[in-house]
Amino acid sequence: MTATGEPLLAVRDLRVVIGGRHILHGVDLDVADGGVTALLGRNGAGKTTTVRAVLGLVPRSGSVRFAGLETVRLATHTLVRRGIGYAPEDRGIFAGLTVAENLRLAERPGAGEPAYRLVHELFPELKARAGQLAGTLSGGQQQMVAIGRTLLNGNRLIIADEPTKGLAPRVVTEVARVLERAAQAVPVLLVEQNLALVRRLAGPCVVLADGRTAHSGPAAELLADAEASRRLLGVARHLPSSAEPLGGSTVPSRSPGGPPRAVPAAGEAAG
Ligand SMILES: Nc1ncnc2c1ncn2[C@@H]1O[C@H](COP(=O)(O)OP(=O)(O)OP(=O)(O)O)[C@@H](O)[C@H]1O
Ligand SMILES: [Mg+2]
Repeated sequence: MTATGEPLLAVRDLRVVIGGRHILHGVDLDVADGGVTALLGRNGAGKTTTVRAVLGLVPRSGSVRFAGLETVRLATHTLVRRGIGYAPEDRGIFAGLTVAENLRLAERPGAGEPAYRLVHELFPELKARAGQLAGTLSGGQQQMVAIGRTLLNGNRLIIADEPTKGLAPRVVTEVARVLERAAQAVPVLLVEQNLALVRRLAGPCVVLADGRTAHSGPAAELLADAEASRRLLGVARHLPSSAEPLGGSTVPSRSPGGPPRAVPAAGEAAG
């Protein structure tokens, strides 16, 4: 809760139509003012679109209150200046630039002195590897850069979209530590399919299905409920135990072997 008693981010009835197609039709989402809130759902459920709509990167309607103020009509740059840091699904790292250069590019004019002390305190490796080309870092180290960038500007909320996607189990554990450390400093909205990671990090969770909020409540409760997990996330017999390595159980695709999803990288506002 913020000082006003509201959640840090309160999304109500968020709707997105792209190219005449209704992608989101009623997403409700609260992000607590501390720790990790998880946004879950199968492939194509609308998680990334929700995050992009919150940030104003796609046309949207509904209500998005951030830190007590309505932002649904604000441009992305204005909203971001109010204190939202975003680590996108593809990380958005410049492989041909050094770690230090990647961080320097994230400095935001007017946001005060960049918080290098905090970033280097949380991720000493970034200091040690300042001169290394980001493209030569491990997946876990690249996530440190991606998350580190969001911590530079005194943000009040960090949104991380599937930071463990495509990473080996050992690296997932490394990323879990990265997120844990970040969440000690700033509240995190974590989009994730790795349920072992969610179990380890998340307090509250929200589950999307077909562009709507299908469930919200404590993540631990959902993951302890095999029937609800199966219905909402599609995981059947096997749910991660707290002792299990983080590379374990993930939310399966909605239609294994089904037609591939088209997610155009550009031209989203078209049509
Ligand atoms: N720009 C777009 N144009 C058309 N359809 C889109 C666009 N972006 C997303 N979609 C569609 O909207 C739905 C939700 O996509 P989204 O990427 O938000 O899902 P997701 O939950 O993030 O999935 P994943 O787990 O695979 O990342 C999908 O059916 C997707 O194909
Ligand atoms: Mg996504």
